[in-house]
Amino acid sequence: MDELKKRIQEEGTVIQSDILKVDRFLNHQIDPVLMKQVGKKLAEAFADAGITKVLTIESSGIAPALMTGLELSVPVLFARKKKPLTLNEGALTTKIYSYTKKIHNSVYIEEGMIQEKDRILIIDDFLANGEASLGLTRLIEMAGAVVAGIGIVIEKSFQDGRSKLDEAGYSVYSLARIASLENNQITFIDE
Ligand code: G4P
Ligand code: NA
Ligand code: NA
Repeated sequence: MDELKKRIQEEGTVIQSDILKVDRFLNHQIDPVLMKQVGKKLAEAFADAGITKVLTIESSGIAPALMTGLELSVPVLFARKKKPLTLNEGALTTKIYSYTKKIHNSVYIEEGMIQEKDRILIIDDFLANGEASLGLTRLIEMAGAVVAGIGIVIEKSFQDGRSKLDEAGYSVYSLARIASLENNQITFIDE
């Protein structure tokens, strides 16, 4: 997606040689016009997948997920990182490993939010090691539903998340694929 790549080049900064900071339009301040275009492109990519629901994880996945759900006219569900007081005993939960923090964190989805007949599109802002996306696939599969696709705004292709998701057989589509952040240079995979 050309507009997204342009914004990443112009406004993104590289931290510690493998982290891309994009808090002007995605991770802190959100550009709704850009997010609308992101949602349109992700929805187009999965237009024929029979999606009934979009699933993401709070907080930064919510903006692109909401715009994708708007385009597809389906509900948008986000997994919660803090256990809600009101959670049912039958809620879905799994632990997700964070490579950056070296800890496992639980995430939660209320009982009944995902049904067996659902075909779910996972949306996330970043794909790095793939642990967040894989955690969401576990919750979907626990509920007996189908993972119909995974749509990503920014994929760091030099980390192993993409290949893990491909190997697991999921249909992955990323709008911007970053080949390298070395020497503070943002290089995209040519597509
Ligand atoms: P993984 O899910 O692909 O395995 O990712 P990892 O554990 O490495 O990343 C943990 C958090 O860091 C996630 O956000 C993820 O989106 C974010 N992240 C990973 N790489 C980058 C990067 O290069 N730039 C930015 N800006 N974020 C990155 P989170 O902790 O779930 O937080 P949030 O959604 O509340 O923002
Ligand atoms: Na994030
Ligand atoms: Na995220």
